[in-house]
Amino acid sequence: MIEKRFSAAAETYDRHARPQLSLARSVCDVLPEIYPEQILELGCGTGQLTRLLFDRFPDVPIDAVDLSEKMVEYSRNKFKRFNQATWIQGDAQTYRGQDPYPLIVSSAALHWVSDLRKTFENIFQCLEKDGFFALGMMLSGTLKELLAVRQEVAPQKTPASALPALEELMENLHAAGFKILRKKLSEEEVSYRSATDFLRTIHEQGVTGAKVASGREPLNRSEIDRLIELYQDRYSSADGVTATYETATLLLTKTS
Ligand SMILES: C[S@@+](CC[C@H](N)C(=O)[O-])C[C@H]1O[C@@H](n2cnc3c(N)ncnc32)[C@H](O)[C@@H]1O
Repeated sequence: MIEKRFSAAAETYDRHARPQLSLARSVCDVLPEIYPEQILELGCGTGQLTRLLFDRFPDVPIDAVDLSEKMVEYSRNKFKRFNQATWIQGDAQTYRGQDPYPLIVSSAALHWVSDLRKTFENIFQCLEKDGFFALGMMLSGTLKELLAVRQEVAPQKTPASALPALEELMENLHAAGFKILRKKLSEEEVSYRSATDFLRTIHEQGVTGAKVASGREPLNRSEIDRLIELYQDRYSSADGVTATYETATLLLTKTS
């Protein structure tokens, strides 16, 4: 399901992924002062973070993994000239490289997994002792305006699950065995030209129908019209409308 959604969005994703790009930059900001022999990236998508890693670590081999075949294919073509990357279709919940990695990174991807604890335990196993894991996550305050309006328009179709809250994220990281070295929290308001433009944008990011935007049943035409009208009315700004993105950026290590 998630694989299909992102495969469909591969071509349009970059045009609209400003919040994701800013999270990828934040992940680079918390990286440790090391020059690793190899890097694993989980949920590489269209390679926004990977591109930053090419600049920061020229010539370091990067295993860039994504669940979506189309994303993998798209990035492999787009970054042909960077032969330091190996583009791999795989699931962050179960992926294992040949040897443990000194550095694992992931941005704006792991909030999609169905089992956070299992995913973090797997990443812990993939990491060398004293290795680093730099993680950028979208948290539960992301698109809170959309959830509120949706709840009002169609309460019986409320989302089945939400993005993780910070407490849930930290609990799962601790339970997997990680030690926290750096932590940055952010709540950013992003502007869109209109409510219609905003909905189109999150659709083109592959977010529509996802945890944050979907319910058990899709909205019908009149509910969508009402949602657009309410959103435009409630969250208008000088530039159009705003939407919140809540994120956490963490640097973690494996001490045992
Ligand atoms: C919002 S995109 C972010 C991509 C990129 N890291 C960025 O910063 O732009 C999320 C990506 O995570 C991938 N993804 C979702 N679940 C995954 C999983 N279980 N394993 C690997 N990749 C996954 C999706 O296919 C998608 O390409």
